[in-house]
Amino acid sequence: MPRIFNTETWKALEKCGQDPNLETIGELFNKDVSRPEKFSLELDGLYLDYSRNQISEKTKDLLLSICDHAHLKDQITAMFSGKRINTSENRAALHTALRSNGKEYPKGPPKEIRTSTNDNLEQMRMLSHKFRDGKLVGSTGQKINAVINIGIGGSDLGPKLVYSALKNHDHPLVLFVSNIDESDLTGKLKDVNPAKTLFVIASKTFTTAETITNAKKALSWLTRTLNVDEKNAIEHHFVATTANPSVAEKFGIKTENIFQFWDWVGGRYSLWSAVGLPIALGLGFETFEVLLRGAEDMDVHFSTAPAALNLPIMLALVGIWHVNFRNYCAHAILPYTERLSLFPEYLQQLEMESNGKMVDRSESQISHTTAPIIWGSRGTNFQHSFAQHLHQSPIVTPCDFIAVAADNKNHQSVKPLLANCLAQIEALAFGNQDPMKSNGQTKPSQIIEGNRPSNVIILDKLNARTLGSMLALYEHKVFVQGVIWNINSFDQWGVELGKSLAKRIEKELESGDNSENTLKSSANLIERINTQKQRSS
Ligand code: F6P
Repeated sequence: MPRIFNTETWKALEKCGQDPNLETIGELFNKDVSRPEKFSLELDGLYLDYSRNQISEKTKDLLLSICDHAHLKDQITAMFSGKRINTSENRAALHTALRSNGKEYPKGPPKEIRTSTNDNLEQMRMLSHKFRDGKLVGSTGQKINAVINIGIGGSDLGPKLVYSALKNHDHPLVLFVSNIDESDLTGKLKDVNPAKTLFVIASKTFTTAETITNAKKALSWLTRTLNVDEKNAIEHHFVATTANPSVAEKFGIKTENIFQFWDWVGGRYSLWSAVGLPIALGLGFETFEVLLRGAEDMDVHFSTAPAALNLPIMLALVGIWHVNFRNYCAHAILPYTERLSLFPEYLQQLEMESNGKMVDRSESQISHTTAPIIWGSRGTNFQHSFAQHLHQSPIVTPCDFIAVAADNKNHQSVKPLLANCLAQIEALAFGNQDPMKSNGQTKPSQIIEGNRPSNVIILDKLNARTLGSMLALYEHKVFVQGVIWNINSFDQWGVELGKSLAKRIEKELESGDNSENTLKSSANLIERINTQKQRSS
């Protein structure tokens, strides 16, 4: 089989993408008034419009045929049926099993996996009901009324995003601590009563330095402020979510307070597992279940709809067009609701940790660009910071706009938010067709050329169901791109080097001895820091 990059289809797309006469977005719209219908898709309250990209019908067909070259269909079946597609770690990537409620798939998750995920959900349901019914008490007998999740990366970003997107003023307080900078934890401890606080220690490995350090600090805060011993504090105030229960037990957490998940759940795909416990505690188990159903809707769609009508596949192909054929190396995520302000950060991990790689599944160098730089912020704030760059910089950044059509909680702000969102989309695509004149002349600085690509996702409403669907949409988009680039999207070896270096350098900072510093390039920095430390002590 030829490598995908050597196929005639890939070469034709390269030619198309570099064509100086490539039709502009404006020209494509002028040519075909029905373009918005032809270049949009919908699933249960989630509408994707990808018409404002320089993609003609011919380009779309070429992009679709890449999926066949990449055997995408087989790869989807392999993922859903639990094949060990994470080859470097010899694991399945079965996050879809966590939200599978028995609907039809080409090949669903194995039965024994369904049984264990159901047991797990039952354990989450029981704790969440006990907490929300006021029956969960701390070491002094007082009702627990607040939760602090301690975790980082996938053990933080997903549940934090969902909780902040869906919480109301009457939901119990859930706070998230992730940074090893102690001001993160201490700042949040000020907002809770130790006698009434439950800590969820979320870590797939239960060895992550940031999380274990923060967990130990939280424990010593509890023993100090409540005047109880560690055993008592842990028993009443600590639960763990982990795929490594024996280490959590060693930490002192009782077996019945450990919510286990499995090595086939990747960290950045784990919010659907027990890592979603803060969602169930904060918003209610029933809301967590609706979130799972929303994701399951997208799973069924992804695994059954033809490629041309498949939302994750089309979103992925538009991204491939931008990265590989138009050479756009960044991608902005622009949600027009404060509730989704954490979405860009969440997607940074999902996309960049999954596909920010240059070696393929057969350990060969990839000759083309892979995951773009994901960044962004919420509207309307970004309009007053980096929007200028999006409109007029020579660096073109494709954007995903996310808007909510009706928001019962914030109905007064819906209109201005939508108006601003649509204004940005229009300005990026079409520029100022009638540029402002000054002294009868158009100043180049005032010309907004437009022809800047964007996708638009409109959620009818932002609720657990649509949010679940949208998160699964992006997960599958990342999967499709990984398949096309022939990447293992489920490992992250690049992260490990930083972790081991940090351990060694921390020792050197402690001892003041940097003789172990083999590279010497940071020896001067360590020396400077240690001198400064001595001066100020
Ligand atoms: O350092 C990266 C990473 O391994 C992520 O992939 C993961 O989500 C995060 O750290 C946290 O890991 P853990 O859940 O094992 O604490």
